[in-house]
Amino acid sequence: MTDKTYPRSLRHGLFITFEGPEGAGKTTQLQMLRDYLAAGGYDCVLTREPGGTVVAEQLRALVKHHDSGEIMTDEAELLLISAGRAQHVRNLILPALAAGKIVLCDRFYDSTTAYQGYARGIDLDFIRRLNSFSSCGCVPDLTILLDISPEQGFDRAAARESTINVSDRIEAAGMDFHRRVYDGFQKIAAADPQRVKVVAASGPPAEINQQIKGIVEHALQKL
Ligand SMILES: Nc1ncnc2c1ncn2[C@@H]1O[C@H](COP(=O)(O)OP(=O)(O)O)[C@@H](O)[C@H]1O
Ligand SMILES: [Mg+2]
Repeated sequence: MTDKTYPRSLRHGLFITFEGPEGAGKTTQLQMLRDYLAAGGYDCVLTREPGGTVVAEQLRALVKHHDSGEIMTDEAELLLISAGRAQHVRNLILPALAAGKIVLCDRFYDSTTAYQGYARGIDLDFIRRLNSFSSCGCVPDLTILLDISPEQGFDRAAARESTINVSDRIEAAGMDFHRRVYDGFQKIAAADPQRVKVVAASGPPAEINQQIKGIVEHALQKL
């Protein structure tokens, strides 16, 4: 990039999603990448799924804290997450991309495929169609899959939230579930190697950040 006018605006924006299990380091790496790109003069939007807009955050809260005592069904969970995505894509992601911004998103539809599809067992073809519908056909330009074993991700997430019951929740779902999530992400990456870049995430944050910066710079140069 030779254009030094700030903020740097891209003609069609750039949509980058981060995927991987809980504790992989997605939030950590998103913030490091955002700081790097912002220092380079890029206009960045950092957002997350489920969530990202007022309504979508309300739907997230429903999915995450359904403490009414009523069981959240797998079907309802999928539809709530998908409804939130439609709000998020139409009201935040697409307008930001149209304004030439770089959108960095913590999880996107690959998480739906991995969790609700591969791990919970909802029909994958239905999920593929629902993902396409809920994202209004919006496909990430680049997806970084942080590759960490379910066990190491579990340890990190447990250390992060030792006072909250996240570890209980993860344990309740069982290691088998997290193994299916992991395998699901690997299959997603194998099926779409152009878009999904697998980054080993077991090392120190700065090392992982270095690799991600290289991948993103490469994507920027191709624009
Ligand atoms: N590369 C790393 N090595 C060791 N600990 C890390 C690394 N990246 C993140 N962490 C820590 O592990 C925990 C989970 O990281 P986080 O970024 O919240 O993961 P995620 O958003 O994928 O759930 C946090 O406490 C974070 O500080
Ligand atoms: Mg996170």
